[in-house]
Amino acid sequence: QLLPVILCGGSGTRLWPLSRETYPKQFHALAGTASMLQDTATRLVGISSEVELAAPLLVCNFEHRFLVATQLQQSNIDNARILLEPSGRNTAPALTIAALQAQADGQDPVMLAMPADHVIADKPAFHSAVQSAFRVASAGHLVTFGIVADRPETGYGYIQHGTDEDNGTFEVQSFVEKPDLDHAKAYLAAGNYLWNSGLFVVRSSVWLKAMKQFRPDILAACEQSMTNAQRDADFVRPEANAFQQSPSDSIDYAVMERLSKAPELGISARVIPLKAGWSDVGAWDALWSVRDHDRDGNAIIGNAVQHGCTNSLFLSSSRLVAGVGLDHIAVVETPDAILVADLRRTQEVKQIVAHLQKHG
Ligand code: GDD
Ligand code: MG
Repeated sequence: QLLPVILCGGSGTRLWPLSRETYPKQFHALAGTASMLQDTATRLVGISSEVELAAPLLVCNFEHRFLVATQLQQSNIDNARILLEPSGRNTAPALTIAALQAQADGQDPVMLAMPADHVIADKPAFHSAVQSAFRVASAGHLVTFGIVADRPETGYGYIQHGTDEDNGTFEVQSFVEKPDLDHAKAYLAAGNYLWNSGLFVVRSSVWLKAMKQFRPDILAACEQSMTNAQRDADFVRPEANAFQQSPSDSIDYAVMERLSKAPELGISARVIPLKAGWSDVGAWDALWSVRDHDRDGNAIIGNAVQHGCTNSLFLSSSRLVAGVGLDHIAVVETPDAILVADLRRTQEVKQIVAHLQKHG
């Protein structure tokens, strides 16, 4: 069985001011007409019947439970179960409670961890990659999908891979999460690095074994919170105190960076190159990339007009936005905040959010 696990508890701070704590980016229709969560939840529709799909598990913040449930209902998904985190501890604990829930159900499925903030344009290509990954993960490997890098992006993980192919997969030789710019440039030049897509395919027992090895502290907190979880209808609530005892860490730092350095564990990391029109709509420049452009490279969302602008992004959610003579600028208007930013520095929007959190 393949268990889709949708991670949708992030706060998407680099897409401020549209993405807010109460309504983070994954719940917005940024790339099309459905929300990014809805696109994710329906992404496996039509996959080959060779892959038996289990009812999806979603892991989100408690505050967003009705938002998630409503959006799933709108997409006609009526069999999902939703794990509610009292507060986010990043993706490693999120995937760990999903694995523990699967085990509590008496299953050891292959989990497909899917972030809820991606665009994947070519579904058939994605489905065939997932099918291959499913086979390889069934045999006890941890499979990631790698994207051919075209710029020294520092917001991604980098996967150094070997050259020997086995079933469309390559050995992961090393994994570096969010390198600095100099390293990112070197990896791009080296040619044997792929971006980590943030999708992972792994049997629940294999994931738990890796966590036991690398982060027993996180595993223990998650186990305790799931042993005492409250399960009502579609919602599962891990016990809050125990869950909050868990340190924060991401899948990438907690496991991926360590796995290739620990061959004695017997879990090998494999990567499948994914050519499916993948994009992480992580920051405003990425949204600009996935949207349609006018002749001058401007992407316009909502009620905006421009004159003499080039390669800019205009997003209006309530008021009219107008731009004159701008180049590589993002203008994002919401009812209570406006962002004007250099499109080449959109990663730094999170500094603004950090500042606001500190000083209000
Ligand atoms: N349930 C839950 N709880 N979900 C979370 C939490 C949490 O505490 N934190 C993040 N998420 C969700 C986000 O909503 C998102 O869908 C996904 O997990 C990934 O988190 P991000 O915070 O967006 O990670 P990232 O983009 O910085 O980095 C990851 O993705 C990149 C590609 O998009 C890494 O895997 C990188 O290596 C990778 O290149
Ligand atoms: Mg992301």
